[in-house]
Amino acid sequence: MIIKGKDLSTSIKEALKVRVGVLNEQYGRTPNLTVILVGDDPGSVSYVTGKAKAATEIGIRNTTIRREATISEQELLDIIEQLNNDDDVDGVLVQLPLPKHINENKIIAAILPEKDVDAFHPMNVAKLWLKQPCVLPCTPKGIIKLLHFAGVDIAGKEAVVIGRSNIVGQPVAKLLLDANATVTVAHSKTKNLAEVARRADILVVAIGRERFVTADMVKPGAVVIDVGVNRDTRTGKLCGDVDFEEVQHVAAAITPVPGGVGPMTITCLMENTVEAFVNRMNK
Ligand code: GUN
Repeated sequence: MIIKGKDLSTSIKEALKVRVGVLNEQYGRTPNLTVILVGDDPGSVSYVTGKAKAATEIGIRNTTIRREATISEQELLDIIEQLNNDDDVDGVLVQLPLPKHINENKIIAAILPEKDVDAFHPMNVAKLWLKQPCVLPCTPKGIIKLLHFAGVDIAGKEAVVIGRSNIVGQPVAKLLLDANATVTVAHSKTKNLAEVARRADILVVAIGRERFVTADMVKPGAVVIDVGVNRDTRTGKLCGDVDFEEVQHVAAAITPVPGGVGPMTITCLMENTVEAFVNRMNK
């Protein structure tokens, strides 16, 4: 089975659009998201374009602030401060990665936690790890929704996450653990990675290398979630971290790239924006 993230994403967005209409009647305005894009990395441009398009579809007001890669850290901090103080702005997101001369941690920490729709602020990360009510990071949240959509019962399963980034690997491992899976976090330096991966009932791959996971690394009947977004050096097309052609014959279910995790990340961002708006309105 191919897990169609795009289809799930479409149905969640339709429901969100209705909700935004109701909220507009209730509060007299719609949620408002500002996305900041620094530089012109093609991957980041494509993500940001997708985020703006989804927001517009749902009725979320949105602005993209674009700045040259030469912007100073202080100039970026000034923009964030202005957005933090703007009562009409509910969500603030800075697309990552940032140019090397800018301290990403400093930028993330500057966003007001209540407007941090990415859930990257240390305060929001801490709440997640302490199991306190919090906004969930978009990609990990989207992955859990995809597993439910595919009818996968996470409790009691062996999950292996390949990748340990702050954005995906670590938080998705935490969410799987909270859903009562037994979780192993592996990475590019894991010894006998194929053997470790083959233990997985649920295999999540977020490593950023094309065809990194081959059929011999997948247990027959496993569910494979591919978070990779790479350029296929053979075809020039977008591809994931998993050799889809091979692995689809071994796995019980697999997410495609494009059309799997990617649309869910964007949709969960929309959900988080609506949530941030409602929380701010009820403060
Ligand atoms: N870069 C890659 N994924 C993400 C994301 O989910 N949010 C932001 N801000 N940057 C990213």
